[in-house]
Amino acid sequence: MPVRPKSDLRSSEITPESVYLDRRGFLSAAGALGAGAIAAVGGFSSIAGAQQPQAIGKPFGLQPDDKPTPWEDVTTYNNFYEFGTGKGDPSETAGKFKTKPWTVRVNGLVNKPADYQLEDFLKPSVVEDRIYRHRCVEAWSMVIPWRGIPLADVIKRAEPNSKAKFVEFTTLMDPKQMPGERSGVLPWPYTEGLRLDEAQHPLALLATGVYGRVLPNQNGAPLRLVLPWKYGFKSIKSIVRIRLTDSQPKTAWNQAAAQEYGFYSNVNPAVDHPRWSQATERRIGEFLKRKTLMFNGYAEQVGSMYAGMDLRVNY
Ligand code: MTE
Repeated sequence: MPVRPKSDLRSSEITPESVYLDRRGFLSAAGALGAGAIAAVGGFSSIAGAQQPQAIGKPFGLQPDDKPTPWEDVTTYNNFYEFGTGKGDPSETAGKFKTKPWTVRVNGLVNKPADYQLEDFLKPSVVEDRIYRHRCVEAWSMVIPWRGIPLADVIKRAEPNSKAKFVEFTTLMDPKQMPGERSGVLPWPYTEGLRLDEAQHPLALLATGVYGRVLPNQNGAPLRLVLPWKYGFKSIKSIVRIRLTDSQPKTAWNQAAAQEYGFYSNVNPAVDHPRWSQATERRIGEFLKRKTLMFNGYAEQVGSMYAGMDLRVNY
């Protein structure tokens, strides 16, 4: 079991509201998302237990009965097959994974390819704290307070050229450190992909932290994608490359089982997984099942990107 964090948060870890409001692009993003203008800094402290860090951040698309999933569950119930296929394997075995130094290459069909150091994604002037719903294809869900940089900001810096239509993401390939990569459970390295418009959507986040703290290794340190309207497997962990392409990238899960895991992977209660229903979900920590919402509750924000598409074909 991982060491529990201290219950207190240093004041330097809490983002003052003035910093939110000063951020480049923040106001336009908030308006576009219709997520309400009030930053909920520390707004969930009342549900916190003694060991529970405060969930800091601005809530996006939360339902009235959504509460942040406890830190303990967020950091011990994980899918990260590079560290084993059991939910407890990543927190038990990823502790020594080396995430410093870390370089992220942004290249492909762009005018300004670059190698970024992780520190470029950690500056207070570029990160935001956002609380998102999180729905796994295995029909469980959580509510997670992330810290990260909007993916759109990183893509914009690279200046995609007119041929760029998709974005491919790649996880570190290092079988010495990641024992799962020595197994045949998935094609390695883990890859994922998005259409360029999806990648530029203001909800798409490159997360570097959770609960206002540095991302624990099991959660995808030092940098992972977060796409709250898609099943969790699109949210690729420990990213080393972001490549702009003109054709739809291959993805790890689609290559492993194409009938079960399509390119879009949008949360959709009307389209079942071939082996189980997607109509309901189990919120980690709760007993009764909840109804799954279209696009995981983000239909208003993302629905127009899929207008006119047959979502049974494009699952
Ligand atoms: N990224 C990599 N590199 N390897 C993985 O096994 N699992 C995916 C996704 N990203 C995975 C990954 C799956 S199936 C899910 S549900 C989410 O990460 C889980 O993220 P969490 O552990 O933070 O909840």
